[in-house]
Amino acid sequence: MRSTPWNRNVQFHSTPSPEVMASDKSLFNTFVAENKRSMKKIAVVGAGTMGNGIAHVFAMNGFEVNLIDISQDALDKATATISKNLDRMVAKGKLEDAVKNETLSRISTQTDLNLGVADRDLIVEAATENPELKRKIFQGMDTHAPTHAILATNTSSISITWIAAATKRPDKVIGMHFMNPVPVMKLVEVIRGYATSEDVCSSVMELSTKLDKIPVEVNDYPGFIANRILMPMINEAIESLFEGVGGVEEIDQVMKLGMAHPMGPLQLADFIGLDVCLSILNVLHDGFGRPKYAPCALLTNMVAAGKLGVKSGEGFYLYDSETREKVVAPKFQR
Ligand SMILES: NC(=O)c1ccc[n+]([C@@H]2O[C@H](COP(=O)([O-])OP(=O)(O)OC[C@H]3O[C@@H](n4cnc5c(N)ncnc54)[C@H](O)[C@@H]3O)[C@@H](O)[C@H]2O)c1
Repeated sequence: MRSTPWNRNVQFHSTPSPEVMASDKSLFNTFVAENKRSMKKIAVVGAGTMGNGIAHVFAMNGFEVNLIDISQDALDKATATISKNLDRMVAKGKLEDAVKNETLSRISTQTDLNLGVADRDLIVEAATENPELKRKIFQGMDTHAPTHAILATNTSSISITWIAAATKRPDKVIGMHFMNPVPVMKLVEVIRGYATSEDVCSSVMELSTKLDKIPVEVNDYPGFIANRILMPMINEAIESLFEGVGGVEEIDQVMKLGMAHPMGPLQLADFIGLDVCLSILNVLHDGFGRPKYAPCALLTNMVAAGKLGVKSGEGFYLYDSETREKVVAPKFQR
């Protein structure tokens, strides 16, 4: 196949020449449409809080998913979580039992990244929020995924442009920022890196709608839109607790009752993961160089102490491992 700006996908077996496509708009549109349709095989890298939700949503919408993690334990937990979440949907009458089983049958797990991405059309990276780690994973994905594959990251804040620069296909690197919990939340923040192509962006926008999500396109600056606005609010809530302006429940109540937020900022921070919040604030602080983004010392301390929120069982609240019922953590009881 000749190398053309358009032959991004091996599924279109005989790519028309650029001259023919330039003169025949409908042929070009067919070619683009076929590329989009052919995105069937997905890999999700990282099987933690977000990875299991992303795998769940793709599989439930008919995509074949390889879920990849370096930890077998994380993969086992992810499969159990997906099964439990599907059971909950069945119990609520939102899903038929047969669909649950089909969904699970579309998910394979894998600890080898190179094998897991080898025949995939789209890879969504959802590993730990660590810039160097992400660049390393993207280099591996770039080497082992097919040349047509789109490489997406679910990063909350790290520059898409910087991650893309670690690959030989920056035009096919994009941010696909799902919200937590993925099966429930409608938004996908689609982030265009400096070099992301128009085609790749429109393919990912369209694909997101096939997952029954609503994509919103934004540009690549630290924290994008969602976390640039959310994290300073969470940080300010932690700062208010640290200074003794209010207790955990009082701060959350003010924001729930006064601002109609469904969850208070401290509970939300626990839910996101305090380590994830700290990483995002560090990216905002480094990226903009403004003191207003500096993480509160209490947040830094809690992460150092391993109090990461829901995933570790304790953050601002203490969580029952079975029921996830919460009470204010002993450290913050007044
Ligand atoms: N937690 C949230 O609410 C939230 C929301 C939106 C986006 N995000 C982003 O999603 C990503 C994942 O966050 P999370 O909360 O799911 O983290 P998590 O800590 O729950 O899970 C991360 C997973 O990545 C795995 N991992 C680490 N190195 C790996 C590697 N080299 N190869 C494969 N897997 C590897 C870990 O074993 C772990 O299972 C981050 O970039 C985060 O910023 C998180």
